Amino acid sequence: MATRNYQTVKVEKENGITWVILNRPEKRNAMSPQLHYDMLDAICELETDNETQVMVLTGAGDSWCAGQDLRDFFRALDNNPAERRKAGWASQEWRWRRLFTFPKPTIAMVNGYCFGGAFTPLIACDFAIAAEDAVFGLSEVNWGIFPGGLVSRVLVDAMCYRDALYYIMTGDSFDGKKAAEMKLVNFAVPRAKLKEETIKLASKLMEKNPHTLRAAKEVYKTCRTMDYWQAEEYMAAKGVALRATDPLRGREEGTRQFLDEKTYRPGFGSYSKRKA
Ligand code: ACO
Repeated sequence: MATRNYQTVKVEKENGITWVILNRPEKRNAMSPQLHYDMLDAICELETDNETQVMVLTGAGDSWCAGQDLRDFFRALDNNPAERRKAGWASQEWRWRRLFTFPKPTIAMVNGYCFGGAFTPLIACDFAIAAEDAVFGLSEVNWGIFPGGLVSRVLVDAMCYRDALYYIMTGDSFDGKKAAEMKLVNFAVPRAKLKEETIKLASKLMEKNPHTLRAAKEVYKTCRTMDYWQAEEYMAAKGVALRATDPLRGREEGTRQFLDEKTYRPGFGSYSKRKA
């Protein structure tokens, strides 16, 4: 599928990885209404794009995303309720619902500043890898607001109570190493190795059965808010659905390779995906 052009987002595809790049480096990739519309379009398109096996979200230049655009998203829309509603809806739709439920693995590759509203897509991604010197901040309290949109809510999923309140209430910034120590990101690496490490993780994911991966993330993300009875029922049904619809017949294939062929042991890596 040809890659579309967007005003504020670049999409680059290479070897199964689709790089979605927030592209307003002169504004440190702050999120304007146009960026929200572009991101919503891009994500909707990539959901069913066969070339996209793993999606990486990153930023152009030295910033990942400086949060909502204070001029274009906030001040300019103060007296424009219709546009505010439209931009607000697009903003929540791509940063949370679409990204959180994206049907393929997603990696936030945090190459620099990550502030305020940028925490929502950061946490919506399945994985996050940061440059050690990336700078994170819940800066809202410094100018009279609190982390809104969905930020305060998604922080509950991704930071411990003490850390989240500390950074929400002090507005202090922290670096990629600290983000990794708090497990807000999976790991932090020297900036020079950021892309290489991201490709390494994406490649590992691309070796897996994509249908199983999709179900695995859907199940984990969905059952977090269920009670035990609902979760058990849901997982039983989802397991049957996966087995019935997986064109690679992953369960039969993995078991066959282990029991019959004796070519695969989980302790030594992935089974090989074979067409049934
Ligand atoms: N909204 C609007 N414009 C922004 C934003 C933003 N969130 N962040 C940066 N910009 C703009 C600056 O106004 C400046 O524009 P100009 O060239 O027209 O003057 C340009 O981007 C470059 O910004 P600088 O501050 O000059 O860049 P620097 O590299 O020195 O600093 C940093 C980058 C640390 C990200 C700084 O710009 C900053 O603190 N931005 C605000 C970050 C923030 O608090 N975001 C939360 C927003 S609120 C929310 O998301 C709910």
